[in-house]
Amino acid sequence: MNLTLKVWRQEGPKDKGNLQTHKLSGVTGDMSFLEMMDVLNDQIIREGGDPVVFDHDCREGICGMCSMFINGEAHGPGRGVTTCQLHMRSFKDGDTITIEPWRASAFPVVKDLAVDRGAFDRIIQAGGYVSVNTSGETLDANAIPVPKADADEAFNAATCIGCGACVATCKNASAMLFVSAKVSQFALLPQGQPERKRRVTRMVEQMDKEGFGNCTNTGACAVECPKGIDLTNIARMNRDFLNASVTGE
Ligand code: SF4
Ligand code: FES
Repeated sequence: MNLTLKVWRQEGPKDKGNLQTHKLSGVTGDMSFLEMMDVLNDQIIREGGDPVVFDHDCREGICGMCSMFINGEAHGPGRGVTTCQLHMRSFKDGDTITIEPWRASAFPVVKDLAVDRGAFDRIIQAGGYVSVNTSGETLDANAIPVPKADADEAFNAATCIGCGACVATCKNASAMLFVSAKVSQFALLPQGQPERKRRVTRMVEQMDKEGFGNCTNTGACAVECPKGIDLTNIARMNRDFLNASVTGE
């Protein structure tokens, strides 16, 4: 396959950045998108250039690092896949592919396609955890019965990998799908109840502080989410936040 790649190059957060065009040949349908990027970087290095910086780690859809906006879609044309799970068979010989970083002011570009998603970490630090009693009288988690439907829903929410595709896709750069998944994975379980109100209040406050936009019910985030996180999580978070605001915590 011969491709024309238009790749976003940006020296740092303050640089204006631009799209640079590269011709690449020898790409096969079995290559993942990131393997294709590796081939591109080999070519750039052979030509004496500066390789394209992009984030990746697991390359199997788990870590959420491979953030790329491909032909105007977060994680490219596939549904339910991350960029590392996208294969080049999704493209045709002669295609032009435009590759850009996530674009949101809360995710400043570090370099080229790599963005700083530290804002997500700070939201988790604000309340995305369950405090554990380590006094020696800790109840075994398995001793608390959890209805199967709740356990399944909590598990589904917990599959969010924090990739940020929801933010990059949303016209308001809202992080509500991510934050609501992280709120819900605890709100649905008995272990999450003692800190439920404090958790949602602190996480939403931190989300606002980081400069993410608000949700206007477009639903684009859920369409592009590689893990199928459902919009009902946003409704649950809004209910919990309102409840906490009214009843105090
Ligand atoms: S909700 Fe989906 S798109 Fe957003 S961070 Fe989680 S996995 Fe990624
Ligand atoms: S590299 Fe880990 S999800 Fe893509």
